[in-house]
Amino acid sequence: MDSFEELAVVRAEALAALEETENIAALRDWEKAYLGRKGKVTLQIRAIGKLPPAQRPAFGKEVNQVKQELAVLYAEAEKSLKRAEIARRLAASAVDVTLPGRPAISGHLHLTTQTLRQIYAIFAQLGFEVYESPDVELESYNFDLLNIPAYHPARDMWDTFWVDDKRLLRTHTSPGQIRVMRERTPEPIRVILPGKCYRYEQITARSEHQFYQVEGLAVGRQVSMTDLIGTMHQFAELFYGEGRQIRVRSSYFPFTEPSIEVDTDCILCGGEGCPICKYTGWLEIAGAGMVHPVVLENGGYNPDEWSGFAFGMGVERPSMMKYGVEDIRLFYGNDLRFLRQF
Ligand code: DAH
Repeated sequence: MDSFEELAVVRAEALAALEETENIAALRDWEKAYLGRKGKVTLQIRAIGKLPPAQRPAFGKEVNQVKQELAVLYAEAEKSLKRAEIARRLAASAVDVTLPGRPAISGHLHLTTQTLRQIYAIFAQLGFEVYESPDVELESYNFDLLNIPAYHPARDMWDTFWVDDKRLLRTHTSPGQIRVMRERTPEPIRVILPGKCYRYEQITARSEHQFYQVEGLAVGRQVSMTDLIGTMHQFAELFYGEGRQIRVRSSYFPFTEPSIEVDTDCILCGGEGCPICKYTGWLEIAGAGMVHPVVLENGGYNPDEWSGFAFGMGVERPSMMKYGVEDIRLFYGNDLRFLRQF
């Protein structure tokens, strides 16, 4: 086989092999095998020097043409393989515009916030403004000034989280009464005092160690028990629905005299007796009473000239009754399956 024939074989072999390359890696191998430093075509070029001088120009021309031809084919193959690769990637990441969209879930107010706002709206209608007092409270405001001295057995009613020996996390919203009176004295007052309260208590389905209360305070020249009962009845009707009855029971709180507890007829059974009202027919809505003269005086109001009523109600309990929630722990457990229902 002369060198021309040999070159024709190499060329034919290269063309056939090129047909077989299916990806870039295989193409690079092909280039190395024929056009690389030790490639078959390159070796043909090197062999020119061993030919008889007369054959060299013709063979040199021929071999250069083959090299050129293969280089062009290589460049074309590279381009089309790259294009195919891009097409493949695009196809893999294609978006199916016919798929239905995913609904975006929007948040909403927490059940407690919703209930608080209902309560604010009801009392705003009755002329009460919202007054906020601190969560970290002085012992004197939380107890002493509310007529609960250190030796008083009523302190047992409030298990306390102490911050230090003078400060504590308020166990009820009642200390706000003293704060408003001291700030406003001596003018008539009609406020509600909402806020979180804290008690060092066992957590159960019925009691949390953090919960909301809304305190109410009305002070004036002739505020009476009738005003208190009327206010409570209005609240029951506006919060639980028209036609609600209320019932007043005598009770005891150190900061009110006389003290009462206010119930409304059960919203579920209307008084027949059911699990929500524990078969009593009544639901507790607030502790209340006429502001104790000592408390008025501690607030800077002369009890001979001024009188007032006060009440304190829970927030989670009424929403539990209204919506049939059976476990108070659900409120702050952050389980969205619960929260989204309201
Ligand atoms: N502070 C009381 C408690 O936490 C609730 C209360 C009762 C508030 C009677 C009042 C009231 O203002 O007059 O249990």
